[in-house]
Amino acid sequence: MGHIIIKDLQKEYIERRKVSRSMECPYVACGEVNVVFENINLEFEEGELVCILGPSGCGKTTMLRIIAGFEKASSGNVIINETPVTGPSSDHIFVFQHNALLPWFTVWENVELGLRHVKDETKKKESIQEYISMVELEGFEDNYPYQLSGGMQRRAELARALAAEPDTLFMDEPFSGLDFLTHMKMREEVVNMHQYIGKTVVIVTHDIDDALIMGDRIVVMSGRPAYVKLTRKLDYSRPRNYENMPELSELRNDLFFMLGVNYAV
Ligand SMILES: Nc1ncnc2c1ncn2[C@@H]1O[C@H](COP(=O)(O)OP(=O)(O)O)[C@@H](O)[C@H]1O
Ligand SMILES: [Mg+2]
Repeated sequence: MGHIIIKDLQKEYIERRKVSRSMECPYVACGEVNVVFENINLEFEEGELVCILGPSGCGKTTMLRIIAGFEKASSGNVIINETPVTGPSSDHIFVFQHNALLPWFTVWENVELGLRHVKDETKKKESIQEYISMVELEGFEDNYPYQLSGGMQRRAELARALAAEPDTLFMDEPFSGLDFLTHMKMREEVVNMHQYIGKTVVIVTHDIDDALIMGDRIVVMSGRPAYVKLTRKLDYSRPRNYENMPELSELRNDLFFMLGVNYAV
């Protein structure tokens, strides 16, 4: 499960600071309408790892929050597994949030939070251990978040998200703030994790290489008001190295250009 359809999605905000109390609309907030994105039509297949790319401020986070049911669209809708999204659902969805670890809980207890619904204690323990091992945090089960490095904290967050065994996993800029090597390693781990769990994973990023290295599909958003500039399935084997893959390298140049940088770096 994890089939997602996005139909005619549009989001706008009324700029409150510019609300006027004019005679024309004395009761209705009639401030300046700020369109974040419009005409968004997308379909993600079950089990796909989708990377949504776009410039800062184009509405990636807003869109992810709408897909996950945390925010309402101004118009249009999102259908997951043939059911329209009306609010967040812990059965199907888990949003991976940076800094979501509870500081007063150990790694083990934080991962356990994702498994509150499991009644069988033995099965619960096995699952916690499985996900802790998957992110290579064995031996750190009793550590508190402050006793872990930034990369280890992020891996613990990942284990917690995975432990909830969602049909769909949403991740908003999951590598932000990590040093270069940890970023590379985490990227590898997310790809491995995706291959292992086979669930739909939607990742929002502003990093072109993340999208090219990880994505089964990439979606490129324009600047505001945003629309979908490109959606492309990436049928390339992994591990990917664009330097040895001319098509991918060409696409990389195109993406830089699309995102406003004239020379790929
Ligand atoms: N609650 C809000 N009220 C008004 N404007 C908002 C609100 N949330 C987000 N925005 C605006 O929507 C735009 C998109 O924000 P966001 O989704 O965070 O972008 P991104 O994640 O692509 O950087 C921004 O320009 C931001 O100012
Ligand atoms: Mg964002």
